[in-house]
Amino acid sequence: MSHYEDTPCPSEDLDCILVSEEAIQARLKELGQEITAAYQGRELAVIGIINGAVIFVADLIRQIKLPLQLDCIRVSSYRDETKPVQAPEIIDKIRLDLEGVDVLLIDDILDTGNTLAAITKVIRDMHPASLKTCVLLDKQTPRKIDFNADFVGFEIPDEFVVGYGLDFAERYRQLPSIGVLKPDLQNPPQWA
Ligand code: IMP
Ligand code: MG
Repeated sequence: MSHYEDTPCPSEDLDCILVSEEAIQARLKELGQEITAAYQGRELAVIGIINGAVIFVADLIRQIKLPLQLDCIRVSSYRDETKPVQAPEIIDKIRLDLEGVDVLLIDDILDTGNTLAAITKVIRDMHPASLKTCVLLDKQTPRKIDFNADFVGFEIPDEFVVGYGLDFAERYRQLPSIGVLKPDLQNPPQWA
């Protein structure tokens, strides 16, 4: 008998599902086709922003029918809370040489735009041949920064969501679908 049987399913912590597993899988195929068509005949460098984009990047690159290189950049802008508490901080930098390379920067979600604005600036300073951005989710929030992603999986309402790579305090990343975390679980005192 597995010890997991005693563990409550983490999806019980969700108020509602916003994007189902089936919808994500179908959209991944379409995004892969869009990206493959946009870069036909070229080689790409895919840069994933971890931890959030790790699952999206892993699934999406298998739908891109082009030669590509993969690297990741580790950024922190949330400290176990549901609101950004500081400017994005680069904790682990890009190791690939991006000079003269077509770069596709991938994140899980576009919220305020601070993260992508900061990382695109870092990458531009590395003199790539081109730079485009891709996000799974585009949160429909009044944005202080004028930033739009080139490839978007889904537009979602201004809610705090978890699942498919998105976390709250590093939890819920493994959920196959994306949903709104129950409000009473968003700042439990034991996680503060
Ligand atoms: P931005 O810098 O405000 O655009 O936020 C982007 C980063 O914030 C993403 O990489 C996520 O890690 C995190 N984030 C923003 N909104 C959410 C959310 O609803 N759930 C989980 N993480 C989020
Ligand atoms: Mg996060």
